[in-house]
Amino acid sequence: MNEAQIHGWATWLEIFLAGVTCLALLSITAPYGRHQRSGWGPTLPNRVGWLLMEMPAVVLFGWIFLQGEHRFEIVPLVFLALWEIHYIHRSLIFPFRLRTSGKRMALCIAALAIAFNTLNAYVNARWISHFGRYEIDWLLDPRFLVGVAVFLLGFGINLKADRMLLALRKPGETDYKIPRGWLYDYVTCPNYLGEIIEWLGFALATWSLAGLAFALYTAANIGPRAFANRRWYRERFPDYPPQRKALIPYLL
Ligand SMILES: NC(=O)c1ccc[n+]([C@@H]2O[C@H](COP(=O)([O-])OP(=O)(O)OC[C@H]3O[C@@H](n4cnc5c(N)ncnc54)[C@H](OP(=O)(O)O)[C@@H]3O)[C@@H](O)[C@H]2O)c1
Repeated sequence: MNEAQIHGWATWLEIFLAGVTCLALLSITAPYGRHQRSGWGPTLPNRVGWLLMEMPAVVLFGWIFLQGEHRFEIVPLVFLALWEIHYIHRSLIFPFRLRTSGKRMALCIAALAIAFNTLNAYVNARWISHFGRYEIDWLLDPRFLVGVAVFLLGFGINLKADRMLLALRKPGETDYKIPRGWLYDYVTCPNYLGEIIEWLGFALATWSLAGLAFALYTAANIGPRAFANRRWYRERFPDYPPQRKALIPYLL
């Protein structure tokens, strides 16, 4: 089997894992954040967990990208920039903004995320700098232009929604409040909605099965969690707005 075939299998593996993950998460909610609970083995500090989990998406992705034949071409470099903007924020800035003192995360969650991010880094970095072919005129292709715009829209939504959540707590607080205003009037998890939009945009801009695999996995991973979060709010806050959808305004 040559490497192109291995890469193809790895991409289909990621799509298969999206299906398995979605089915599993519809019945089991991953034990971190508000759903952290005992019985999931050893734990580690939340912030350390985030840092470790997301690091392969920055470092390994960058390293694999640099091994590719097309590593110095403009379009792959634009994709690298989009990817790294998201993941440098997620692994090196977001964990330090958390008001999460004393919180822990199950080690198994961090380990699974590291394994997934390793696979995903290979699938996507190897595609954009090696197996994919993007000539310079791809920069004017409508799929690229719309995809990048969708990516940036999703990134903006994700950032703003996370910032609003983080601002709910004053320094030292660790409890939960009902977020209100902006997209929170429509959905429980606009941060997840933004993240899904982001990776759909990336899939469109790269017009690749690799990008689609990651967009599907993202939706499979955080889609069910949006419903678990809404259930959690409803159980905990009797005044939680009943009309608020979980993920997609007016729909879901
Ligand atoms: N691509 C993927 O597959 C993937 C997977 C997972 C996460 N993510 C992204 O990673 C980011 C974080 O995910 P997450 O699941 O941790 O999001 P989350 O549950 O919405 O929490 C985000 C942060 O806000 C705090 N928070 C949440 N709700 C709050 C409330 N009602 N009152 C006060 N503070 C509140 C949380 O504190 P606590 O930690 O104390 O709960 C946490 O620090 C999101 O942007 C998400 O899209 C992506």
